[in-house]
Amino acid sequence: TPGSAEPTFTAPGTLTPVVTDMWDKQRSWTLDAYRDAGGYQGLARAKTMSAGELVDLVKASNLRGRGGAGFPTGLKWSFLPAPDGLPRYLVVNADESEPGTCKDMPTLMANPHALVEGVAITSRAIGADRAFVYVRGEVAHAYRRLLHAIHDATDAGLLDDGFGLDGQQPLKIVAHAGAGAYICGEETALLDSLEGRRGHPRLRPPFPAVQGLYARPTVINNVETISSVPGVLTRGAAWYSSMGTERSKGHGLFSVTGHVVNPGQFEAPFGITMRELIELAGGMRPGHKLKFWVPGGSSTPIFGPEELDVPLDYESVIGAGSLLGTRALQVFDDTVSVVRVVSRWTEFYQHESCGKCTPCREGTYWMRQIMTRLEAGQGRPGDVEKLEDIAANISGRSFCALGDAAATPIASGIKRFRSEFEAGYTTPAAELFPPAASSIV
Ligand code: NAI
Ligand code: SF4
Repeated sequence: TPGSAEPTFTAPGTLTPVVTDMWDKQRSWTLDAYRDAGGYQGLARAKTMSAGELVDLVKASNLRGRGGAGFPTGLKWSFLPAPDGLPRYLVVNADESEPGTCKDMPTLMANPHALVEGVAITSRAIGADRAFVYVRGEVAHAYRRLLHAIHDATDAGLLDDGFGLDGQQPLKIVAHAGAGAYICGEETALLDSLEGRRGHPRLRPPFPAVQGLYARPTVINNVETISSVPGVLTRGAAWYSSMGTERSKGHGLFSVTGHVVNPGQFEAPFGITMRELIELAGGMRPGHKLKFWVPGGSSTPIFGPEELDVPLDYESVIGAGSLLGTRALQVFDDTVSVVRVVSRWTEFYQHESCGKCTPCREGTYWMRQIMTRLEAGQGRPGDVEKLEDIAANISGRSFCALGDAAATPIASGIKRFRSEFEAGYTTPAAELFPPAASSIV
């Protein structure tokens, strides 16, 4: 294996470029390039189908939500109540912010028309003639690229008719740039923000499918989910569900970052393993061993070398004690202080806590204080137990998933590397793991 010391890696898994198919093509983001590659044929097919047929097709494909939770997409669409003559909306969550997650922004940059086409097909399936894409505001270039794609598709007449409750209206797609709050990626906070209010999560139920944007039935899906829909239309549900594992069908983007030789996006069927992905990424950087990794961004429990062969599908990863989340696979080698990594993540969650509920607002603050002193080698005996106690009291007691996410790296970090945390009573992390040797934290 190029550049890898230990462990050694076996044959790589198969890649299935579908959403990423266009990425290496010249001017892949333009309407002409997308059409030359067969783009918008899925929409043409969708216009020959009824809304119900479209929902059934996506249900049959077994496409699941790619924002992290993996909720069945067709099922979510079918939750919308029967039409009552008033509007319903599609909202695309492009507020990608989970630490380590970096799949939706490249998709928007390289292939924005896949999203626009997916938005059009989905809008037809749910009877919407207004769709909103909520883009992470800091990524201005992705926002601009999406604006161009929407403009070009509209100008070309692709969105002129076939939408709305009667299936005959034009479709208006609005791109909205957020203002940089992680919490606005939580679907109900996103809705508040889109409506012009401060982004605070709402109580669920009612779920957005019943009462969402402007209190109307709303489907909210992630960029990758919607960008996968055109492929289902053109190649069929059977093709899509022929990939993957028994319950996690299809392909997905696996983002491998950190101490590998060639970090990047790998689009593969669910069930590929981390061992295979590290091999595809050129192996660990020369002379170093894998120490730990996370399967789905910072909010998913830490794995070690023992889990390298766990199939990366929703069920197997849960079975092994973590979550697949956004498939943001961050790889850390033996130069990395787990205390320093967890401290950075804790800082992030404390900063991004919206402050609505006490366990998360107060708990993340306390955890940050303790992590800061452990990192500096100024911890106090009992700090590790205190961290465990606070994390246990945040987890399951917070208003939204951010609280649980903040508690997870602490709890799983201590579970796997307790002695490293306890070393922080007397020894700065920088002394144990000199920062110069570690390139990513
Ligand atoms: P969830 O499991 O509560 O919901 C998933 C989706 O299914 C939502 O759209 C929800 O409205 C819908 N749903 C669930 N039960 C329903 C029901 N009974 N009726 C109608 N709709 C229903 O998950 P949540 O809190 O929306 O998302 C958590 C995930 O987000 C985590 O797994 C995490 O990996 C991911 N995440 C992603 C980030 C990113 O940057 N992409 C950032 C942070 C977290
Ligand atoms: Fe806000 Fe945190 Fe409570 Fe979520 S868990 S509502 S982010 S304070």
